[in-house]
Amino acid sequence: MDKLIIRGGNRLSGTIPISGAKNAALTLIPCALLTEEAVTLRNLPRLADIDGFQHLMTQFGVSHTIPGKRPEDFGSNVTLSATRITSSVAPYDLVRKMRASILVLGPLLARTGEATVSLPGGCAIGNRPIDLHLKALEAFGAHIEMAAGYVKATAPDGGLPGGEFDFPVVSVGATENAVMAAVLCKGTSILRNAAREPEIVDLCNLLSAMGAEIEGVGTSELTIHGVDRLHGATYRVMPDRIEAGSYACAAAITGGEVRLEGADGHDMGSTLHALRNIGVEVESDKKGVSVAANGPLKAHNLTTAPFPGLATDMQAQLMSLLTQAEGASVLKETIFENRFMHVPELARMGADIETEGRTAIVRGPTQLTGAEVMATDLRASMSLVIAGLAAQGETTVRRLYHLDRGYERLEEKLQLVGADIERLGDD
Ligand code: EPZ
Repeated sequence: MDKLIIRGGNRLSGTIPISGAKNAALTLIPCALLTEEAVTLRNLPRLADIDGFQHLMTQFGVSHTIPGKRPEDFGSNVTLSATRITSSVAPYDLVRKMRASILVLGPLLARTGEATVSLPGGCAIGNRPIDLHLKALEAFGAHIEMAAGYVKATAPDGGLPGGEFDFPVVSVGATENAVMAAVLCKGTSILRNAAREPEIVDLCNLLSAMGAEIEGVGTSELTIHGVDRLHGATYRVMPDRIEAGSYACAAAITGGEVRLEGADGHDMGSTLHALRNIGVEVESDKKGVSVAANGPLKAHNLTTAPFPGLATDMQAQLMSLLTQAEGASVLKETIFENRFMHVPELARMGADIETEGRTAIVRGPTQLTGAEVMATDLRASMSLVIAGLAAQGETTVRRLYHLDRGYERLEEKLQLVGADIERLGDD
C-alpha cells in the first residue's frame, strides 16, 4: 500500500485545478440506467470510487467508453449506454467496497420494475442505515423485502404509480434514490424535507436534460411529474465543493495564498463563511475561488448541518485549521455518530483537542510536529494531510486508499502550489 511523506512548513502559493465532484458523479452515473440512449458525463474525477461504480454498472449490461484524454489531464469524459439491462442485481462483493452502490436501487427499479441490491453495511463514520431510501420507494408504490443481506424492490405491473414522502431526517442518498425512481413513475411524486445539497441540484439538472419534469429544484420540496421515457444527454459534472474546501484549508494552515480554479463559490457558502470568520481572506468569482491567510487565525465555533449549513464533509479539515487558531473553538458534528476519528491522530501531532460525544473543543495555536499517522476515512485522512503541511518535520500518512477515493491525484495538486509531498510505495 502507498504512503504519503509530507515535510511541513512550506507556504502554499499558486493555482490548484478543482476536479468534478465525487458526490455528484456517484449519483449522475446511475442515471444512465434510466434510458436506453447514451449518457455522456464530462469532467468526471479520476477516483477509485468512480472506477468502481463504472465497473458495477457493467453488471447490469451498461457499456462505457472513455474518449481519449491526455494522462496529464485531470478528469475524464465517459459515455454510458444502458441499451439493454441484462441484470438488476448488485452483488455483495461489489457493493461492500462502495456504499454509494445503493444509488442503483431507484433507477434499476424505475427502468426494469425490480432491483436486488446487497445491503451496503456501515462504515467507519457510522452505521449508515438505508431505511429512508426504502420508505421513500415504498411511498411510490414499491414492494420491499429483505433477505440474506439483500434488499429486493419490485414495482407493481405497469410500473411505479408514484406518491408523496416526507423525510423525517434530511438524507442526501435517499433523496437521490427517490428522485431517480420518481422520474419514470406513472403519476406525480412529491418529496418534502428533501436534501438541498448542490449535488442534488446537479442530479435534477441532468435528469431534466434527459427529459424529466422536476419542479422545486434546489428547494426542500421536489415535485416530479413522471414521464414514459427519458432520452440521452451530455452533461458536465459540477466542481467538487469539498475538494475545493479541503485545499482552501491547506492553503490557510500554511499562511498561503491559493487560487482554486473552477471552484464554484455558490456551492461553498458555509465553508467560505467559516473561513472568513477564522480570519482567512476569501474572494469568489465566475472562474473560481481565491483564499489567502495573511494574518493570525481566530478560533471559531462550527456546527455541521444539511445544506445550506456547514457540510459535515468539511468538519475534519476545518478542525485541522483551527488547531492553529488563537483561542478555543467548539465543533459540533450533528450528521454522523463517529466522525472524530482524526482527533487521536491530530493529537499525536501535538493538537490540543478534547471530545465529548459529538462535540470537540480545539485549543490553539499549538505547534504541530510530524508523525506517522493512519488514515481511517476519507475526510479524516485529508485532515491529517492538512496538519502535516503545517507540522514541523515529516509526516507519513498510510492507508492512502481512503484518500484515493475522494481526492484526484492529491500529491500532484499540492506539488503544484509548492508543498513538499511525495507518494511512496509502502515498504
Ligand atoms: C452523502 O452520504 C455523502 N456521500 C457523504 O459524503 C456526506 O457526508 C453525506 O451525504 C451528508 O452530506 C455521497 O454523496 C456518496 P445521508 P449519505 O443519507 O447519502 C442518516 C464523503 O466524505 N440516514 O445524507 O449516505 C445517516 O445515518 C461522504 O464524501 C438514515 O438514518 O448521507 C446520517 O446520520 C461521507 N437513514 C444522516 O441521515 C437513511 O436511510 C445523513 O445521511 C439514510 C440516512
